[in-house]
Amino acid sequence: MPDAIVLLKNDHKEVERLFKQYEKLGDSAYVTKRKIVDQIIEKLAKHAAIEEQHFYPAVREAADDIEDAVLEGLEEHHIVKWTLSELEDLPAEHERFHAKVTVLIESVRHHVEEEEQDMFPEVRSAMGRKALAELGDVLEQAKAAAPIHPYPELPDTPPANLALAPVAAVAAPAVAAVDKGRRGLKRALGLDKSG
Ligand SMILES: [Fe+2]
Ligand SMILES: [Fe+2]
Repeated sequence: MPDAIVLLKNDHKEVERLFKQYEKLGDSAYVTKRKIVDQIIEKLAKHAAIEEQHFYPAVREAADDIEDAVLEGLEEHHIVKWTLSELEDLPAEHERFHAKVTVLIESVRHHVEEEEQDMFPEVRSAMGRKALAELGDVLEQAKAAAPIHPYPELPDTPPANLALAPVAAVAAPAVAAVDKGRRGLKRALGLDKSG
C-alpha cells in the first residue's frame, strides 16, 4: 500500500499523462479531446477531494509552518475546480474550449510543482513514515468514494466537506443522468435557490 505522498504523486503522474495525450491531439480531434478532458475532470475532482478532506487537514495539524502552503493550495484547487466545472458543460468545438484546457494544464502543473517541490518534502519530515502510511490507507479509501465532479461551490475544509462528501458521491451519478452534474446537485443539496 503506497503512503500518502506516493499515492498523491501517482495521481499527479496519471493526470500529467492525460495532459500530454491532450497536447498531442490535432485541432479538430473534438471527440478525443472530449474523452480525455472528461477523464481529467474525473481524476482531478477525486484528487482534489481527497487532498481537501484528509491530506491538507492532516498537514495543518502536523506542522504550523506548512499552513500557508495549504491555504494557497486550497485557493489553487478552487480556481482549478471552477475551470473543470466549466469544461464539463462546454462543447469541445467551442472557441473557448482549447484555451480553457491550456490554462487548466498550466495551473495544475504549477500547483503540482509546488506540492511536490515544496510542500511534500516538508510534510514527509514533519509527519514521519508511520503517519504517512496510515494516511495513505485513508486516502485510498476516500478515493474510492470521492465525487467525480468538481463542485467548486461546496465547502472545501472539514467538517463541512466531510459531511457533504457522501451526499456528493451518491447524488452525483443519479443527478448527472438527468441534469449533467453540478447544478443538479446544488439543487439537491438546497444550495441553489434559483431553481
Ligand atoms: Fe495534488
Ligand atoms: Fe493539490
